[in-house]
Amino acid sequence: MAISLYLLLTLVSIIFLKLFKHSNSQLPPSPPALPIIGNLHQLGELPHQSLWRLSKKYGPVIFMKLGTVPMIVVSTPDTARQALRVFDLNCCSRPSLAGIPLTNYSFHFYCLWKHNRWVSSGSRKLSYNYKDIAFSPFDDYWKEVRKLSVQELFNIKRVHSIQPIKYEEMRKLMTSFAESASKKSPVNLSEKLLSLTASVVCRASFGVSFQDTVLDSERFNELVPEALEILGSFSASDFYPYVGWILDRFTGLHKRRERSAQDLDAFCEQMIDLHLKKNKEDENEDFVDLLMKLEKEEVVLGQAKFTRNNIKALLINILLAGIDTSAITMTWAMAELSRNPRLMKKVQSEIREKYGDKELISLEETEELEYMKMASRVNVWAIGRDPDAWKDPEEFIPERFMDNNIDVKGQNFELLPFGSGRRICPAVYMGSKMVEFGLANLLNRFDWELPEGMECEDMKMEEAPGLTIYKKHDLLLVPVKR
Ligand code: HEM
Ligand SMILES: *[C@@H]1O[C@H](CO)[C@@H](O)[C@H](O)[C@H]1NC(C)=O
Ligand SMILES: *[C@@H]1O[C@H](CO)[C@@H](O)[C@H](O)[C@H]1NC(C)=O
Repeated sequence: MAISLYLLLTLVSIIFLKLFKHSNSQLPPSPPALPIIGNLHQLGELPHQSLWRLSKKYGPVIFMKLGTVPMIVVSTPDTARQALRVFDLNCCSRPSLAGIPLTNYSFHFYCLWKHNRWVSSGSRKLSYNYKDIAFSPFDDYWKEVRKLSVQELFNIKRVHSIQPIKYEEMRKLMTSFAESASKKSPVNLSEKLLSLTASVVCRASFGVSFQDTVLDSERFNELVPEALEILGSFSASDFYPYVGWILDRFTGLHKRRERSAQDLDAFCEQMIDLHLKKNKEDENEDFVDLLMKLEKEEVVLGQAKFTRNNIKALLINILLAGIDTSAITMTWAMAELSRNPRLMKKVQSEIREKYGDKELISLEETEELEYMKMASRVNVWAIGRDPDAWKDPEEFIPERFMDNNIDVKGQNFELLPFGSGRRICPAVYMGSKMVEFGLANLLNRFDWELPEGMECEDMKMEEAPGLTIYKKHDLLLVPVKR
C-alpha cells in the first residue's frame, strides 16, 4: 500500500498551546523561528520533505509554530508509537484549520487538544461544519458515525459483495488497455486508475454508476484532486485567526475553496435526488439509502439530529478519502515496478504461474500472491526512510517485508500507510483489497513498457504537493498484450 498518500511519513502533531504554557522549558528542540510567521518559512513546496530534513537536523521530536499554531513533529517509529499509542487519546481529535495543512504529512499528526478548536473555513466548509468522519473532532458524534460506517460500509462482507462491480469496471479498463496495446500507444495510468477507483467507490457506496452523474465530466478528473489540494494547502486563516482570511481572498484560495465546495455539494444533491427517485421495492438498500433513512426518522447522533448536511458531509468524506488513496498507491507501485524490470518480472511470474490463464483474478486469488502483496506495500518518507528502521530505505525492495510480519494495520509503527490509533483509516481492508486486485489484474494480462525513447533512468518520480501525495508527472506506460 504504502507508497501512497501518506508516502510521507513525517508525523506531525499539533498540540494545544496551553499544554506547554507552563512548561516551556520542556519543549522539544525547535528550528529557529521568526516573529509572526514562526517556522512557516521552513516548509517548502513539499512539507513532508522539509519536515523530514528538519527532523534529521533537530531530532525525532521537534516543536514548531506555523504562524500562531504550535505543532509537534515526530518522525521515527518509536516516537510515532508514543504519539499514536501512548498519547493517542490526546492526539486523536482534529484541529479545525481551514486548510488542514498538516494533513500533507498525514492525517494523524495533528494532535490537538480536545477543547481547543480553531474555527475557520476550509475543512469546515467541505465537511459541513465537521459533520463527516475525517474532520470531526473526537466526540460522541464521531464515535457513532464511524461505527455506523464501519458496520454498514467498510466491513469485510461489503468488500466481498462489491466484487461484481470491481470485475465489471476492471473489464472495461482491460478493454481500453487492449485497444491502446493494439495501437502501441501509451496509456495515462494516473488517470485510468483514478477513474477505476472512482467508479468502484461511487458504485459501491452510493449505488449508482458515476457515469450518470455530474461527476461524469471532464471536471470530475479535477474535482477530487482539486479538493485534496485545497485541503492540503496553506491557508492564512489557519495560522492567523481573525486576519488570515484577508490574505486567503487575496491569494485566490478562498475562491477556489468556494468553487470546490459548490461542485461537491452539487454532486451530493444529485446523489440524493437519484435515491429519492429510486424504485424502493426492487433495489437493495445502499449506504445513501441508509443515511437518508436516518434523516427521515430524525435520528439523533451525538447531540444533534441527523440532517441533510450530515449526509453530504459523509458522502464527500468517502469521495475524498476513498478514491485517490487506492489509485495513487497503485500508480506509485506501477511506477516503481516499471523502473525495476527485474522486480516487475518477478511479480509477473508469480501472478502468471498461478493465474496466467485467467481472464480476471478474483479477490480470493489475490490472497495467494505473496510477492505481489509485498510489492504493493512500500513505505516512503520520514518513517519509511528511517535508516534505523529500514535497510536501504530509499530503494524499492519488496523483499524487505519477507518473514517479518510487518503489516499495514497500525500495529507496526515502521509502516503506517493507514495511520494508527483511534483515527486509523476505517477502510484498511477495502483499500488494500482494491490495490491488490487492481495490480494483480493489470500485471497479469499485460506487460508494461516505457513510452518510446524513454529509459528507466528517465522516469520522473517526484511528488506533487497536496493532502495526498500524487505523482507529480503522470505515469504513461504502453500496455503490451501477452
Ligand atoms: C490504499 C488506500 C487507502 C489508504 C492508504 C488510506 C489511508 C488513510 C489514512 C492514513 C488515514 C488517516 C489515519 C489517521 O488519521 O491516523 C485515513 C483515514 C480515513 N480513511 Fe482511508 N485510506 C485508504 C482507503 C480508504 C477508502 C477506500 C475509504 C472509504 C471508502 C477510506 C476512508 C477513510 C476515512 C473515512 C478516514 C477518516 C477516519 C477518521 O478520522 O476517523 N480510506 N485513511
Ligand atoms: C493524464 O490524464 C489527466 C487527467 O485527465 C490529464 O490532466 C493529464 O494531462 C494527462 N497526462 C498526460 C501526460 O497526458
Ligand atoms: C501542502 O500542500 C500545498 C499544496 O497543495 C502546499 O502549498 C503546502 O505548502 C503544503 N504544506 C502545508 C503545510 O500546507
